[in-house]
Formats: sequence, C-alpha cells, structure tokens
Amino acid sequence: MIYNISVINGDGIGVEITPQAVKILETIGHKFGHTFNFEYVLMGGCAIDETGIPLPEQTLNSCLKSDSVLLGAVGGPKWEGLPGEQRPEAGLLALRAAMKLFANIRPAKLFAPLKNASPLRTDIVEKGIDLVFVRELTGGIYFGERGRRPAQTDGFGTEAFDTERYSEKEIERIAKVAFEIAGVRGKKVISVDKANVLESSRLWREIVHKTAKSFPQIEVSDMLVDNAAMQLVKNPSQFDVVLTSNMFGDILSDESAMLTGSIGMLASASLGETKQGLYEPIHGSAPDIAGQDKANPISAILSAAMMLK
Ligand code: IPM
Ligand code: MG
Repeated sequence: MIYNISVINGDGIGVEITPQAVKILETIGHKFGHTFNFEYVLMGGCAIDETGIPLPEQTLNSCLKSDSVLLGAVGGPKWEGLPGEQRPEAGLLALRAAMKLFANIRPAKLFAPLKNASPLRTDIVEKGIDLVFVRELTGGIYFGERGRRPAQTDGFGTEAFDTERYSEKEIERIAKVAFEIAGVRGKKVISVDKANVLESSRLWREIVHKTAKSFPQIEVSDMLVDNAAMQLVKNPSQFDVVLTSNMFGDILSDESAMLTGSIGMLASASLGETKQGLYEPIHGSAPDIAGQDKANPISAILSAAMMLK
C-alpha cells in the first residue's frame, strides 16, 4: 500500500522525536512492503518564523489531502508574547477544526518494568493502570465565544470571557466513540463533567445517557471533574474509558500521563468521521530540554503506531 503522510516536526523537541518515528515507519515500510510518502510541512512557531502565521495554507492543504498527519509538538517561550490568534497553539487548534477531528484518544498504560517511575505508591500502582481518555476536541471552551469587554463604571476594570458550549450532536458523537472503544476493552465508561454547576455539563450528562441506551453492554457512570482528579491518584485502576469535554480532558490526561511514569511517553490519535487522523504525543515542545538530543522519542513512535492501527 501507498500512504501519504504529512509530517509536522513543529517546535522544540518535536524536531528531535518525530524523525525517530519516521525512521521506524520507513523500516516497517521496507519490511512489510508499504510505501510511505512523507511531506514535511511547517506549523506552530517555526511556521510563524518562516511565514508569519502558525498554520500556513500549504500546510493545511497538505494535511487535508494526506492519509494522515504525524505531528511532533508546537510552541515555546519565543512565541509566548504573541496575541492569542497568532500563537503557535492557534495553528494546532485550527488544524484540528479544519480536519474535523472531534475525537482525541489518549491511552495511558503503566508498563510493568516502569512501575517505579510512577509517582504513586506501589500498592496503588500494583492494581494496574490501563485507561483511555476519549476527549472531545473541536468544541467546548476551546472554541466557544471569547473576548474582552471594556471597563464599566463598577471599577473592576476590563473583563475577559471564554464560553463553554456543547450541542447535542457534538456530545452524542464523542460519547459513541467512547462506548465503541469501551466495547473492545473493559466495557466501562466514566463520563466526567461538572453537572453540579455547569448547564453545558447537564446537557452532556443527559445526552451521554441517552446515547448509552444503544450500548447496553457498556457500564456507564458519571463523575464530577474535581472528584475525578482525586480518584485518578487514589485508585486509577477503577478507570477503563474516561469520556471528557475538551478542557477537562486536556487537564486530566496530563495527570494520567504522569501516573504512568512520564508525560513524555504518551501518544494520541485525533480522529473524525473518516480514516484520516492526526497523531501526536500528548506532551508539549519541552523547551527546557530541547536541542540537547535527550528527549525520549517513545511518544512519537507510539503515535506512529496508533496511526498504523
Ligand atoms: C494538548 C495541548 C494542546 C491543547 C495545546 C498545545 C493547544 O495541551 O494537546 O493537550 O490544549 O489541546
Ligand atoms: Mg494538553
């Protein structure tokens, strides 16, 4: 088979770890008779330096017509002062949206030889950590209305706001992904929300349970996000598939990654309705160790593995 892969090394350690994954893909190609055509494109800080914008049109077009995208990481201190829409991260968000990648799959598994790398006590770790985050990726507060309101007469000064919003359809399609994944795993989904406070979470909960009716073999329960943050360190073995909104998934997946020993080893897949996806480590560009050739490339290699799967 011939596959066209857009490769975005990106910034920081992205340029060190992504080529290692490409090497692995090339070896696999030789061994099993596949051809991978890699098209290297810029996104994030490197794209800003080169073209002035984080997601150049050429990159977007390459990704949209590719079979899949392999990404390293974007961002870094050099571009931190830029306004929101011009930051490297804005490129990644725009790409996720343009490719309609609403489902972000982040497996966190503690491999037995690495159990001492987990910051958790041995008696907790010994029960096993093997969970998958299914994070909604193109909605919620990341894409809701945001802005600033000028100072009013109340003396509180300028106000800034970001809006958490979800529609029935957006919740239903991500819930389905979680149930389908649970169906080939432990058959258990914990849906994380803040339904005791947020209206968007109350709709989330309603639609999750409505959708669950078509998946009678899956055990579905709800957990408030603050409790989930606590339960992940108290008893991570209770989790199989964790279904979350965009923001809650961003936060809790970093926590889960650390439970397995290092944030540097977790891969992710971002998927939509088609077979095309974007595969990337869950970590960032790690400016503190970038350029020293010491970043562990496992997350990039595992991302390539998810791409092949
Ligand atoms: C992630 C990252 C991104 C996100 C950033 C870089 C925009 O933290 O993929 O988890 O918040 O989604
Ligand atoms: Mg994150």
